[in-house]
Amino acid sequence: MIFTKTSGLAGEVTIPGDKSISHRAIMLGALSSGTTEITNFLQGADCLSTIDCFRKLGISIEQKGTSVRITGRGLHGLSAPSSVLDVGNSGTTTRLISGILAGQPFETVLNGDASIQKRPMKRIMEPLSMMGVNIDSIKGNGCAPLRIRGTGDSGTLLKGISYTSKVASAQVKSCILFAGMYADGPTSVTEPYLSRNHSEIMMNYFGASVRTEGTTVTILPEPKLCGQRVHVPGDISSAAYFIAAGLIVPGSEILIRNVGINPTRDGILKVVRTMGADITLLNVSTDNGEPTADLLVKTSTLKGTSIQGEIIPTLIDEIPILAVLACFAEGTTVIRDAEELKVKESNRIDVMVQNLKAMGADIEATKDGMIIRGGRPLHGAVIDSHLDHRIAMSFAVASLASDGETRIQGADCVNISYPDFYEDLNRLRK
Ligand code: S3P
Repeated sequence: MIFTKTSGLAGEVTIPGDKSISHRAIMLGALSSGTTEITNFLQGADCLSTIDCFRKLGISIEQKGTSVRITGRGLHGLSAPSSVLDVGNSGTTTRLISGILAGQPFETVLNGDASIQKRPMKRIMEPLSMMGVNIDSIKGNGCAPLRIRGTGDSGTLLKGISYTSKVASAQVKSCILFAGMYADGPTSVTEPYLSRNHSEIMMNYFGASVRTEGTTVTILPEPKLCGQRVHVPGDISSAAYFIAAGLIVPGSEILIRNVGINPTRDGILKVVRTMGADITLLNVSTDNGEPTADLLVKTSTLKGTSIQGEIIPTLIDEIPILAVLACFAEGTTVIRDAEELKVKESNRIDVMVQNLKAMGADIEATKDGMIIRGGRPLHGAVIDSHLDHRIAMSFAVASLASDGETRIQGADCVNISYPDFYEDLNRLRK
């Protein structure tokens, strides 16, 4: 797909539903008694993988566009699937569903695409094993395919644990919290920094008892979950591309509607403000415990910054687009403590550095991040997305403010989290 420069962006865009929240709504709806109605569900391939897995576990799910109706079967109502569960490209599906399968009296095999088969699963295998679950990496490499044998036919419970995670990962935390629903006592997870807390918010909304103290989250077992109505706020990780585009394309003013601004996700807003962004929050409100706002973004003169420490988990998926933004800022931007980027859908440190260099940027990789010296004009290049949706979207934005043609290989991968991304972006061209 080919992209070119634009003379400005104007108008409004409404951001599709949050990917993390959409996954969790399906999972909690399936484990609840009664019906769950979801609106503004994200129809991205990852969330459709979650629906597909729960259908194979015997749950009736009707999906019409962004509306989903789930007939829940309670905490113990899933049935053994007759085939392997296909998680596609979705790390969230893989890690969260593993916590749920850990509590089932049957064996399941999970597998996904080539990228998922390279992503580290030891981080969930270790705590689940401590809880008494039999979980193996079938190829013995710590990755999917995974075989999970849950609590056993005799209805044995898992062991409640207090686990200290080495990584600040909401997927690890959520996996353990789901398994904790099937434990013999409270289960706690402590992380180095607080990661996104959508599971905690939504589990409590459905009737579970989840408490947070500092970076420790504790769940009580055997919650009585009841079906709910969930309106999914827009995904700030998708909004991030429009925020960046509005800031770097000269002569732009855009209104980004319906953006989730949960403080465990809003690191990008804090960073761009430090860089000098003109961004205004309008219509601040709350949907099922999740804060939302519209964002008014205007072209801004940006300066470099330093991004590290506890803010990293709150913007981890936005680092590729922040790297693009840093190329358009005066001065140096240093990103540290972001080693996790190496184990996302692609190695996002290497892939960003390689592609931004091809466009003329002054950027280098470090062991846990990148150093970007901004202010050099970028030019079009051939970009390899490595089939990573966030890489493809980042370079579509970079191309809007770069000379010449940018050709993105594998551009269709945006389908994972934002199927209409290119249409929405092109509609804003003046
Ligand atoms: C997610 C957590 C993050 C994030 C991913 C979605 C979630 O992953 O990068 O896109 O929904 O819990 P980690 O838990 O690996 O940090």
